[in-house]
Order: sequence, then structure tokens, then C-alpha cells
Amino acid sequence: MSIPFISAEEAASYIKNGDNVGMSGFTASGTPKVVTVALAQRAKELHEKGEPFKINLFTGASTNDHVDGELARADAIGIRTPYQSHPDSRKLANRGGMHYFDTHLSHVSQDLRYGFYGDIDVAIIEATEMSPNGDIILGAGLGMAPTLAQMAKKVIIEYSSYYHTSFRGFHDNYVPLDPPHRREIPIYKPSDRIGSTILHIDPKKIIGVVPSNASESIKPFTAPDEISQRIGDNISHFLAEQLRTGKMPKEFLPLQSGVGNVANAVLYGLGENPDIPQFEMYTEVIQDAVMHLMEEGKCKFASTCALTFSDDAMLHFMDNIDFFRDKILMRPGEISNHPEVVRRLGLIAMNTALEADIFGNVNSTHVLGTKMMNGIGGSADFCRNAYLSIFSCPSIQKGGKISAIVPMVSHVDHSEHSVKIFATEQGVADLRGKDPRQRAECIIENCVHPMYKELLWDYLKLAEKTGGHTPHHLHAAFAFHETFIDSGDMALTDFSKFGC
Ligand code: COA
Repeated sequence: MSIPFISAEEAASYIKNGDNVGMSGFTASGTPKVVTVALAQRAKELHEKGEPFKINLFTGASTNDHVDGELARADAIGIRTPYQSHPDSRKLANRGGMHYFDTHLSHVSQDLRYGFYGDIDVAIIEATEMSPNGDIILGAGLGMAPTLAQMAKKVIIEYSSYYHTSFRGFHDNYVPLDPPHRREIPIYKPSDRIGSTILHIDPKKIIGVVPSNASESIKPFTAPDEISQRIGDNISHFLAEQLRTGKMPKEFLPLQSGVGNVANAVLYGLGENPDIPQFEMYTEVIQDAVMHLMEEGKCKFASTCALTFSDDAMLHFMDNIDFFRDKILMRPGEISNHPEVVRRLGLIAMNTALEADIFGNVNSTHVLGTKMMNGIGGSADFCRNAYLSIFSCPSIQKGGKISAIVPMVSHVDHSEHSVKIFATEQGVADLRGKDPRQRAECIIENCVHPMYKELLWDYLKLAEKTGGHTPHHLHAAFAFHETFIDSGDMALTDFSKFGC
């Protein structure tokens, strides 16, 4: 059967107002880059004529400007899940212009298969190789592609010629059976392959193939700043200590590392610490740092959902692809983040917080409790189930006008029950085996910036007057946030008005 090449505009014309549209990829990697631009243009033209046009958008994780950016600016998104990090899409979510629901990345494929969100009308899947019988090789990120290939009524392929080397052999396409037939996910070490290198799509469903030669357009990471470096050093010294004291097996354990500049810096910190042995990773994205750590021999293997390399790093990767062939496997997000595997392998999970409270609850998503930043991503898939769950962030933001550690978080993503270790550039708080009062003392002593230490001791004293197992003074619990809203500086908080 021959599958026609079609233009991006023709492909976009098959997508209707109100359609559920799923897209391959995870972060910018493996995400469509041309059909969505034509789709946004179509939406704008229809809006100008007074006609409604919005799609419901399901992706593996965040995307790129071609997807979230273009479609948000065209006001063409009805429902959005599970994760976004584009400034225009963030603005749209925060003004209530789209229905963004923030959910765990490992859940979305199965929730779609369970029928929670209806059918997938159209899937747009990026391929780097393809045969007429519908066998494709995906690109630099999988996301939900295997589930979308199964479920979608119609499929549009974006055929990328950007990659000048073959990605064949890097993917591990796998879709678990759904309950009551689910079996164990048979991954016993990060390098275990369980699925197929090829993704088969019924060619009868493929509407057409749209050529693309766009890169992922991922900017290089900024060199780690001093604060990120200190966080990285603190975490790597802590982990080395865990090895020395036998709280971690001497073989070490696979690492998961979150997204962003701090996460990148933490990995560099681990790479440079001679007391940290060679390690493997079982994670959802690998960034530039991991590629360098592999070349240096520090990272032996990485299981991931995407290669989120900056464009320069991707060119380097492609030029040296044979070196990486037996060191990387890319899996669907459902598997890269699977709680069963995370628990079995005993991961060291390292994720980033926006704010934390003195008792160890973590907010990763909402600035001042109301404004969505990105979403929970895979952080909870890993954090709840890891051998050791570490959260980190700089102790202050905005030149000290915000303390990342507050009396009570303004939104909870990861509760005190899951967060085992908290780290800032000031130090590390080991929360294991501590009751709430002990945790509060440990966090204030080790992680809080000196500018805020006295204030948080004051709060704890005030809260202890009220008593309780987790002492809080409910009128004062958000005084840091209220003071920031009123004066622009949390450091001006005055607990004396509450009787401190
Ligand atoms: N209050 C208000 N603003 C805050 C803040 C706080 N407590 N903490 C951070 N910010 C602001 C920063 O000042 C910065 O603002 P700017 O863009 O104006 O400079 C912005 O938020 C980002 O902060 P930064 O420290 O650079 O964050 P980051 O790049 O390390 O990302 C998260 C941190 C939490 C946003 C990011 O890791 C995330 O989205 N996490 C959730 C998903 C996740 O963990 N995924 C990985 C799972 S595998």
C-alpha cells in the first residue's frame, strides 16, 4: 500500500474543531514541528471568520514552540494535558483560556487506553525512517507514541530528514496489557529491553506523510552557576556519605534526574565527585550532561524517554552515534516512569522544587500557590516510589525577596510522606525517621538561607504554642506569601503581630 506525501496544510485540514489530538515526543524531542504550525494558522483563519476551532492536546510531556507556542498563541487549545512549559501556554492556562489538567506522566497513556478522555481522533507522530507497511523508527523522543499508534483513528506522520544518522536500535516500544490482564513490567536492570525497535502503525490509518527538516531547537544549557554547583556538590557529598555508611548498596543505584539547569548541574556534581562510582540511569530525559558523563565513562547506561540534547549536543551525538548505541535505550513515558520499575530498581530520584515547607512538603508547580509554572511532570512517578527521593532548589529567589522554604507550602505536589531528603546550596536535610518537629528543625538548620533562618525559628516557636503533632499557626502560616504580595519582599514578614 502506498502512503502519500501531503503538505502540512493538507494534513492540518483533516483535524476538526473539538478533536482529541495526540502527539509523539517528550519535551521538544520527537515532537511534531510542521503540521502544528499549519494547524495554528488554520485556527487563526477560522477565528477571523468567526468560527470556533480548538483541539484537545495530549502529549508525552512538554513540547516545543511549534506545538504549545503556536497553538497557544492561536488560542487553539481546549483541553491540555499532562505537562507544558512554554511561556505562552503557561499564560493561557493561568488566564483560564484552556483547560489544563496537570497529571502524572506515567498515567496518561493508560488513562487514554482506559477511555477516560475519549478517543484519539488524530495522532501526529514524528518518524525518522518508514516503510510502506507502516513500520516506523521514531526520533529523539517517544512519549506516548506506541499507545497513540494503537488508539488513533487517523495518523499523520511527520517524516524528519534532520537526523543524518539512523536511530534504529535505540527505541524500546512497548504497551502493557491493561487490567485485569496486566503482567509485571519485566525490567530488572536499566538496560533490559522489553519491546520492539520498530513501531508498527496500521497503514490504513495513515492519512499521509509530511516532510520536515526542523531540528529540536533546544538551546544549550547555561554553564552551572555557583548556587547550582553548590547544590550539586551538596547532593554528591551526601550520596558519597550514604555509600560510606552502608545506607546504600556499594554497587550504587540507578539515578533519575529531573529537568532544568539545577538538575543538569547536579549531574555534573556527581560526575566530578571521585567518591561516586560509575552509575546507570533510569530516567525520563537525558540532557547534555549525561552525554558528557557517558563519554567520560562515569555514566555506563541510560534508560530514558527522550534525548533532550541542545542542538549542538545532538549534532555531536549523531556524529558519534555508534559509541552510544549500546549505552542508551529510549522507552515510552509510561515505562520510563513506571512506578513498579522505579521501586524494583531502587532509584535515587532527584527532582527540583519551587518551594518547600519546614515539614518537608514540596510545591513544584504553583508560584505563590495559584500561578501554574509547568506541571508535576514525572517527578511524583519517581519520588513516591524511589529508594531515596531527593528534592533540591536554591534557598532564595529574586535576589532574596523570596525564601524557597516557607512555613507552609502554598500548593502541595509531593507530601512529607514521600520527600526523604531536601537540599539547597546551604546544605542537606535528611528527613528520614524524623517526626514533623524534628524535620522542621533539620530543614531550618541545614537548608534555609541565613536571611530567613531567624524568621523561620520565630514561626516554629509561634506554631509550637498552638501545639499539635505538626505544629502550625494557621493565621501566620501564609505570612511569608502575604508579605510578598503586599510588599514584594518576604523578608519583611513580622510574626510579632501574631503574638510571637
Ligand atoms: N516563588 C516564586 N517564584 C519562584 C520560586 C518561588 N518559590 N521559585 C522559583 N521561582 C521562579 C524563579 O525565580 C525563576 O523565575 P524567572 O524565570 O523569572 O527567572 C523561575 O521560577 C524558575 O526557577 P529556576 O530556579 O530557574 O527553576 P528550574 O529551571 O530549576 O525549574 C521547576 C524548577 C520546579 C519549575 C522545574 O524543575 C519543574 O517544572 N519541575 C516539575 C516537573 C519535574 O520535576 N519534572 C521532572 C520529573 S522527572
